[in-house]
Amino acid sequence: MKFSDLMLVRRSVRLYSDRAVSREDLLAVLEAARVAPSACNNQPTKLFVITERDELDELAAAYPRDWFRSAPVVIVVCADHQKSWHRADGKDHADIDAAIVTDHMTLAAAARGLGTCWICAFDADRVRHQLALPDHLEPVVLLPLGHPEEPLSIAAHQSPRKSLDNLVQWGAKGNS
Ligand SMILES: Cc1cc2nc3c(=O)[nH]c(=O)nc-3n(C[C@H](O)[C@H](O)[C@H](O)COP(=O)(O)O)c2cc1C
Repeated sequence: MKFSDLMLVRRSVRLYSDRAVSREDLLAVLEAARVAPSACNNQPTKLFVITERDELDELAAAYPRDWFRSAPVVIVVCADHQKSWHRADGKDHADIDAAIVTDHMTLAAAARGLGTCWICAFDADRVRHQLALPDHLEPVVLLPLGHPEEPLSIAAHQSPRKSLDNLVQWGAKGNS
C-alpha cells in the first residue's frame, strides 16, 4: 500500500471481529514500536501486551465500553519518566515518545488490515493497579488491536480534518 493511502486508511476502529490476531501480525506491529524514534534515543516506552480473556476483562473496567471488549489484544503503552529525556527547561518528553510509538503501531496495523484506536480516557489508577506499575511508569494509551468488523478502506474513514490553510501558517509572520 502506498504511504499516502495508508495515512487515509488508518482510522479509529471501535468494533472488532472475533478473528484472532496472528502472532506474525502482532510481532510486526510491535516491531514498528521498537524502531520508533525517541528523544535522545532514550526509548522510554514500555509496552504490556494483554491477550488473556480475564486480563482483558479486568482492563475493560478501566475503559468500560462494550466495543472495547471486542478487541482480542490491547497494548498498554507506558511512559517511563525515569528514562525519558528532559529538556533544559525541564520539559519531559516521555509522552511525546509514547505517542510516536503508538502512532507507528497504528500505521503498521493498518498496513496489515488491522484496526486500532487510541484510548486515553481511561482510569489510569485502575491500570496502574492491574499492572502493578511503579510510580515512574505511567500508562498513557490503551491501544486495542484486532480485525475490524468493517474492513479498513479510504472510503470508510470519515472523520473530517481542518483545511491545510487552517493547519499551516507559512512563515513567522504568516505572509510568505
Ligand atoms: C491522544 C488521543 C486520545 C484519544 N482518546 C480516545 C478515547 O479515549 N476514546 C476514543 O474512543 N477515541 C479516542 N481517540 C481517537 C480520536 O477520537 C480519533 O483519532 C479522532 O476522532 C479522529 O478519528 P480517526 O482516528 O478515525 O481519524 C483518541 C485519539 C488520540 C490521538
